[in-house]
Amino acid sequence: MAETDYWITRRAVLEGGAATCLLVASGLPVGAQDAVATMAAERVTTPISRIPMRFRINATEHALELDPRTTLLDALRNNLGLTGSKKGCDHGQCGACTVLVNGRRINSCLSLAAQHEDDEITTIEGLADGEKLHPVQAAFVAHDGFQCGYCTPGQICSAVGMLDEVRAGWPSHASMDVTSGPAALTEAEIRERMSGNLCRCAAYPNIVAAVRDAAEEV
Ligand code: FES
Ligand code: FES
Repeated sequence: MAETDYWITRRAVLEGGAATCLLVASGLPVGAQDAVATMAAERVTTPISRIPMRFRINATEHALELDPRTTLLDALRNNLGLTGSKKGCDHGQCGACTVLVNGRRINSCLSLAAQHEDDEITTIEGLADGEKLHPVQAAFVAHDGFQCGYCTPGQICSAVGMLDEVRAGWPSHASMDVTSGPAALTEAEIRERMSGNLCRCAAYPNIVAAVRDAAEEV
C-alpha cells in the first residue's frame, strides 16, 4: 500500500469527528449509523475523475485533464500557470478574474473550464503584442491607474471588452438615450460600465482617465 494511503488531513479528522457526533445525535440504530458512515467514507475517498479538455488561450492550444468542476479561473492559474488573472472574491463580486472569451468580458471564477473548449480565451498575458503594450495597458501605465496592482489585470481586460461593447452600441444604465447608437464615453458611462471591477486601493479617478484615453486609441 502506498505511503499516501495512510495520509490524513486535520480537516478530515475534524470532518470525521463532526460526522460521528451527528450520527450519534441522529438517534439512528447503530447498524444504520455504520452504513451511513461507510457511505460517507466512500464518498470522501473515491478518486475524482478527470476528463481531457482542449483550450485555445492567447492564441495557443492547450490540452489538459481536469476535474469537470474546475472553474476557468482555477484552470488558468493552477493548471496553466497564467496567474495574471487574479482570484479576489471567487464569487463574481470583484472582477479581479475578468478575462475575454470570444472578445466578451466574463468573470472566470463563475465559469467552468469545460464550458470553453471551443472558445477563444484572452487573458491579460495575451493582450500585448510582443513587447508592445495594448493601448489600454499603456494608458493604465501613463495614468498611474493602479496602486497595489491586484485588480489591474481584471480592470484592463474589462476595459478592453467594455470599449468593444461601446463601439457595438450597447447601452448601459448610465446611457440617457438607448436608441441613437454608441454612447458618448462620459465619466458616468465609464464608471457605470466598469462598476463590476472593484479596486481596494481606490485608484478609480486614474482608471477612468486611462480608459477615456485608451478609447481614442482602440
Ligand atoms: S474573483 Fe471572480 S469576481 Fe472576484
Ligand atoms: S490597484 Fe490595488 S486593488 Fe486596485
